[in-house]
Amino acid sequence: MNDAAKTLIARAMSEASAPTSFSAYAPSNIALSKYWGKRDRARNLPLNSSLSISLADWGSHTQVAPSDTGQDQVSLNGEALALDTSFASKALNFVDLFRGNNETPLNITTKNTIPTAAGLASSASGFAALTRALCGCFGLDLSEAEMSLIARLGSGSASRSLWHGFVRWDKGVAENGADSFAHPVSVDWPDFRIAIIPVDTGPKSHSSRDGMNHTVDTSPLFEAWPAQAEKDCNAIERFVREKDFTALGQHAEANALAMHATMQAARPAITYLNARSWSILDQLWRARQKGLEAYATMDAGPNIKLIFEAKSASDIQSEFPDAQIIAPFEHS
Ligand code: ADP
Ligand code: DP6
Repeated sequence: MNDAAKTLIARAMSEASAPTSFSAYAPSNIALSKYWGKRDRARNLPLNSSLSISLADWGSHTQVAPSDTGQDQVSLNGEALALDTSFASKALNFVDLFRGNNETPLNITTKNTIPTAAGLASSASGFAALTRALCGCFGLDLSEAEMSLIARLGSGSASRSLWHGFVRWDKGVAENGADSFAHPVSVDWPDFRIAIIPVDTGPKSHSSRDGMNHTVDTSPLFEAWPAQAEKDCNAIERFVREKDFTALGQHAEANALAMHATMQAARPAITYLNARSWSILDQLWRARQKGLEAYATMDAGPNIKLIFEAKSASDIQSEFPDAQIIAPFEHS
């Protein structure tokens, strides 16, 4: 069976122009309703829909240009990478989806304004920016929805990084992935805030991909996840549209904790959250009892992300002095 994204790329590449240098940006995103578990691992087709908020100017800047050395080049944050590093080979495998056997040597230069591989979704912004830059480099006429479908092949969460603001990725049902791509949820919520509370921004011990697959394969609690996650995603989309912050926060936090519960039940267990992460959660829950309205969400890493409204920003900053606050609707 033909893969929908690959078919789309092949069709667009049949009318490609000669490669020229092209730069693109994509924001990273944090899921408020998580993607966890795949029905097709090769295509990153999810078992449930998910909904995210993009991180404004926190993301990836990527340039794709013809290489002047006759060989591929990959650099990350100003440092040239050996082509056999896993970062470079994953990026070049993705590039190969476009150029195929044509072997046009390219120079990929990327900068992350977020820590790489630390559970802050660099894979999402990285593959979305690479998709945009490749489409620009080859002059491909693809819509953002089509680019979302393609970015998914690099990393599932990348399908949500083509837009700012709230974005929903519908799981789709087609075996070839034709209906599994994201779309923006057009709600402007200028007072919406995210805080990243850094716990450890170094590379994590295992990738989201490995953690997700291991959970699906071994966790007896995973059985309950896909249906609940789908319900959460629909509820969270409704609360975003209604701008019901309390209901949104409660559901987002519960959804993240349920995802981590599936991992804790995996055999052997996976624990991305460490003692410091739990102590921040405890501090949040105590502060909430005293009236601070903020909710937590956590991904495949120990860092804690909070969501709250602008009116709580100064209380958040005094409760968590190292919190980095992002206004997702204020971006360049
Ligand atoms: P994270 O939590 O940061 O998404 P993952 O382990 O899930 O961590 O993904 C990190 C991987 O994403 C990197 O090893 C690399 O393969 C890819 N990645 C990150 N940044 C970029 C980028 N700017 N361009 C291309 N790929 C990237
Ligand atoms: C916990 O998108 O990184 O951040 O599709 O295997 O590349 P792959 O996984 P990835 O997983 C993200 C998992 C998550 C939840 C989410 O972003 O929805």
